[in-house]
Amino acid sequence: MTSLPANKALLRVLRGDSLQPPPVWLMRQAGRYLPEYRALRSKASGFLDFCYTPELAVEATLQPIRRFGLDAAILFSDILVVADALGAGVAFREGEGPVLEPVTGPGDIDRLDSSRVAERLAPVYETVRAVRALLPPTTALIGFAGAPWTVAAYMVEGRTSRDFFEARRWALGNPESFRQLVDRLVEGTVAHLCAQLDAGADCLQLFESWAGALNPATRRLWSIEPIRRVIEGVRRKHPGALITVFPRGAGVETGLYARETGASAIGIDTTTPLTLPGLPKKTVLQGNLDPAILVVGGDLLDESVAAMIRDMQGRPYIVNLGHGVVPETPPEHVGRLVELVRRNGGG
Ligand code: CP3
Repeated sequence: MTSLPANKALLRVLRGDSLQPPPVWLMRQAGRYLPEYRALRSKASGFLDFCYTPELAVEATLQPIRRFGLDAAILFSDILVVADALGAGVAFREGEGPVLEPVTGPGDIDRLDSSRVAERLAPVYETVRAVRALLPPTTALIGFAGAPWTVAAYMVEGRTSRDFFEARRWALGNPESFRQLVDRLVEGTVAHLCAQLDAGADCLQLFESWAGALNPATRRLWSIEPIRRVIEGVRRKHPGALITVFPRGAGVETGLYARETGASAIGIDTTTPLTLPGLPKKTVLQGNLDPAILVVGGDLLDESVAAMIRDMQGRPYIVNLGHGVVPETPPEHVGRLVELVRRNGGG
């Protein structure tokens, strides 16, 4: 039996309630900073094999929940599974990150098949179903995908990049063909997100990790507008779906994502103040502790957490980092963060 969503603090806040203490979860809460993750990871050869083996992905999803009692689990997977399912040949190399067969022009786009994304990602939804059945009734399950621009940027570049120059050059120089790539990604992403909701995810997050690589005009065209279409597409099948958008690096334009995409909540990155002018008062906010502060710990961590909660008092707010947990993070500092949220928020 599934529990009533009303029991889940994260979902209440995503619907607009302000809670004391606020719910807390962390981007990249599963991963290499946890010794139990490193042990589990050694059981699969490639990182994608790991993501596509439900038994291992379920365990990786649950590890941080068992250890820290966070308010939400995030499905253990990756934003690049959609690129892989489209046929972009994704691999992860040790110490190098993701490597893809680069999409270099319109001819390559024709080979991408968005109609079979959900079929190809069946093991991911099996993981969602299994996690759902194992989570405590008060813990929300977050499904996710990369936003079209961020995934397109990896597909065009063929690897990670400091500035995603090739993707920007294509988007600016040949917008007609770039639109075809983005359209396939919008379709594939909607299918992937809907399948996660069908399998039991409570809510969703879209990671626009490279919003900061765009200029204001291309940000509207290739980030905000495709995200709006993804959200609209998901809600056509799942009316009222709760969707957080994390536009990393959007800076002073972060508020546009709140006003123009239909997002239920906005993830604020580390470089942007939670109190940024231009964020509508009723916007549900998530963020934005510096991941380096979580590494340093001590009084700095205590004071920073107290300050975030103080600043967000009376607003619908979800405690998180301003980017993912880094491998250098001592696990005890995550435990301390959760304790501080429950204590500060409660008092
Ligand atoms: O705990 C969670 O947050 C759930 C799982 C998750 C992963 N990646 C697992 C992962 C999530 C939500 C992501 C999102 C993701 N993946 C993003 C968006 C967030 C962000 O960081 O900006 C991006 C850009 C990616 C693409 C990606 N995946 C890169 C560039 C890399 C290599 C760099 C690195 O950190 O290793 C990955 C690999 C990856 N994804 C790992 C994990 C735990 C590490 C690989 C391993 O354990 O072998």
